[in-house]
Amino acid sequence: MSYPIVILGSGGGSNALALLQAQAKNSLGQATIKAIISDVEDAGILNIGHKFSIPAVYENLGAVGARLSSTAESALIKRILSFKPELIVLAGFMRILSKPFINTFEGKIINLHPSLLPSFKGAHGIRDAYQYGVKVTGCSVHWVTPALDDGPIIDQKSVRIDPADTLESLEQKIHAVEHQLLPDVVARLSSGKL
Ligand code: GAR
Repeated sequence: MSYPIVILGSGGGSNALALLQAQAKNSLGQATIKAIISDVEDAGILNIGHKFSIPAVYENLGAVGARLSSTAESALIKRILSFKPELIVLAGFMRILSKPFINTFEGKIINLHPSLLPSFKGAHGIRDAYQYGVKVTGCSVHWVTPALDDGPIIDQKSVRIDPADTLESLEQKIHAVEHQLLPDVVARLSSGKL
């Protein structure tokens, strides 16, 4: 049984790389990564797709940071549908998706967020937790609903903030656990274990 997935991301793509590496080691369950889509033309995540010889496409969604226009959103929906995914993985996709988009793929979109939700939602989950001074933070994978960084939590991993941690060392620690959590969740979802 095949479980096609599409990854959406705006950044360096270290989590897309973790998913592709898991797939190469046959540890991504039934999942098959069909494509990577980015709204940033020179995003590292597209190069990672090219290296693994999977379709990696730039979709012009307008100015970075802005909400998507309905035209841009329709184009994105069409592009995603062309890959017939069972699951859409938001791995550092820094856009807020509208209700019509989410309804089109209801129950099929997951998001990775670098904090222990519901704490520290938004674009700076690691920095905000660090500056707040919490002693434990982490990362979460959740189902996407129209509310930002909301939706049922699928799984989380915690990370301790040590007194010696800098923002940079904390970022590295969180990324390292994200690279375990996301492939693990995708593997379990694709195998019907979640
Ligand atoms: C990850 O840390 C992910 O949790 C975060 O973007 C980073 C992408 O890194 N996502 C969010 O902050 C969503 N609100 P990557 O491009 O190296 O995978």
